[in-house]
Amino acid sequence: MRRILVTSALPYSNGAIHLGHLLEHIQTDIWTRYQKLRGNECYYVCAEDTHGTATMLSARKQKISPEELVEQARIEHVEDFTAFGIQYDEYYTTHSSENEEIATLIYTKLQEQGTIFQRTIEQLYDPEEKCFLADRYVKGICPKCGAPDQPGDNCDACGATYSATDLLDPRSELSNAVPIIKTTTHYFFDLPQFEEFLKEWTTSGTVQTEVSNKLQEWLDGSLKPWDITRDAPYFGFRIPNSENKYFYVWLDAPIGYMASFKHWCNHSNIDFDDFWSKDSKCELHHFIGKDIINFHALFWPAVLNCAGFRTPSAVHVHGMVTVNGEKMSKSRGTFINATTFRKHFEPETLRYYYAARLSPTMADIDINFDDFVTRINSELVGKLVNIPSRCANFLRKSFNNILDSKLVDRTLFGEFAGVQPQIQDCYEQGNTRQVVRIVMGLADRVNQYLTEVAPWKLARIPGKEAEVLQICTLAINLYRTLCVYLKPIVPKLVERSEEFFGGTKLQWDDVNQPLLDHRLRDFTPLLQRIEMNQVEDMLNASKQTKSSTNEPSTTMIDITDFEKIDLRVAAVLEASLVKGADKLLELVLSIDGNKRTVFAGICEAYNPNDLVGRKVVVVANLKPRTMRFGVSEGMVLAAGPGGKDIFIVSPDDGAEEGMTVR
Ligand code: 2FM
Ligand code: ZN
Repeated sequence: MRRILVTSALPYSNGAIHLGHLLEHIQTDIWTRYQKLRGNECYYVCAEDTHGTATMLSARKQKISPEELVEQARIEHVEDFTAFGIQYDEYYTTHSSENEEIATLIYTKLQEQGTIFQRTIEQLYDPEEKCFLADRYVKGICPKCGAPDQPGDNCDACGATYSATDLLDPRSELSNAVPIIKTTTHYFFDLPQFEEFLKEWTTSGTVQTEVSNKLQEWLDGSLKPWDITRDAPYFGFRIPNSENKYFYVWLDAPIGYMASFKHWCNHSNIDFDDFWSKDSKCELHHFIGKDIINFHALFWPAVLNCAGFRTPSAVHVHGMVTVNGEKMSKSRGTFINATTFRKHFEPETLRYYYAARLSPTMADIDINFDDFVTRINSELVGKLVNIPSRCANFLRKSFNNILDSKLVDRTLFGEFAGVQPQIQDCYEQGNTRQVVRIVMGLADRVNQYLTEVAPWKLARIPGKEAEVLQICTLAINLYRTLCVYLKPIVPKLVERSEEFFGGTKLQWDDVNQPLLDHRLRDFTPLLQRIEMNQVEDMLNASKQTKSSTNEPSTTMIDITDFEKIDLRVAAVLEASLVKGADKLLELVLSIDGNKRTVFAGICEAYNPNDLVGRKVVVVANLKPRTMRFGVSEGMVLAAGPGGKDIFIVSPDDGAEEGMTVR
């Protein structure tokens, strides 16, 4: 028997569970359920990822403590995951005494090994909020392409990466103050010391080949020391023997895997060291998305190795979720939260759909809702559940629900059992797409058989009763084999089928033992068809779900602040593309006969020709800003999250050029 510990990436407390999280947690849950079904000792742990500036600010905004925010999020997240059938053995929190203890222990070991050093760095600082600013809390003009409103690490418009101190006209997202550059001393983990160890570790079968190939790019002299410090104010654990320095959230987050398991061990009869000591014989499997490979396949194994713990047996990396071919988008309603999905669809449908798409690659998984509806209706309902519903009536009416005492085609039953080794390999490798393919191929065979022998016709011919019973007994037994194979993927659907079979839980070996001379329970429909209008309703509901970052600002200004802004109606005289800038249009505007040039980030949403002659609203007294392409002398008002979803604010007919907007 194998002894296995499994984890999914810890969801941030500062946000709702959405279809992206569900892909990973469903994938992990399927793998774990499979291992348990095979009789392995397997534990699945997860937790809230609680620390960081985002949690601190969000709690402040809601006027609650970070601890309260975390606990609320934990309850909501567990409710969502439970609804989707995710069965953790432990779902804990990184803000726990166990985590602080292990993080401190690991940090001390890293220090003892001479891998921690101090370095003074320059960072942007918000003089009003009195705190250092992480890159995403600074916005400014891209130093490469001049696009406005770009975050402090990379430009959404031209893709350039830079450091926050390079931004032009930077502003703090917290207070809108102009950040100053301030020095601070941070602790660094000396990752380059582990280059040789990581080269070996990443090429020894611990990650998929494509992941390993990607990692080699970093492992050829490009590793950098890792800054593990954040300055106060910060929600996290204080670094021992330091004042006002905290562990960066990404240091204690993976340690949260250990802490969550430790908590579970303290409540059960499991030995923590069996799983985490350097010479552990147990397996450790992490499931993550491709966006956090560096944390799990570089920093984490290096930290564990250095601190004297075992390293992961495998890191399973999946791709990102897209919806209808595009990145999930709030305005299009395709940023779908778990809660919204489950209000419109039975969660098992998503488990099935994801399983039918997942393979052991990093390829992105696109949810195409036409495909989703078709697959659920034609495969799950039309092929699988159709088998018992084609037989159940005859069995109940004519045979008191009692199956025959032998199988009419033992060979066919044996053939279905014969694919089990292949299914096992697929599950083990995370190739559930292939599991679904095989099972649906078998379901086709049962349906073809039923169509050929047509028990509904035989049932009308006197003297053919025995044949009808033989056929239905075989079909029900073949269906039962398929239920065994699909049990990790659609556990609730299988549970309902287990009820029908008589209430006993299906075991992996049951594919070799047919149910004969056995009384079934009355059949009740197992799954409903779904309709396209349910999809539309869900997308509409998603559009209305506010994200925490999208709420109207609660910072009030008074009328004198507002009066400082000179809003004017302007006419667009010329509009043209800006070479080298993907998002910008150069507009020549007329305000009361005076010409102005304004650069606006609306290129993906508007064709320049369509804008000429239109009236727009402009902030006329914005200080001219020098951009790489020229000077922008104002700002055109527009609404929306950006990209294709940006909408110019246009005055009604009658508003004339130069008029003040009030
Ligand atoms: O990317 C994320 O959503 C992180 N909260 C994942 C953390 S995984 C682990 F390291 F804790
Ligand atoms: Zn740029």
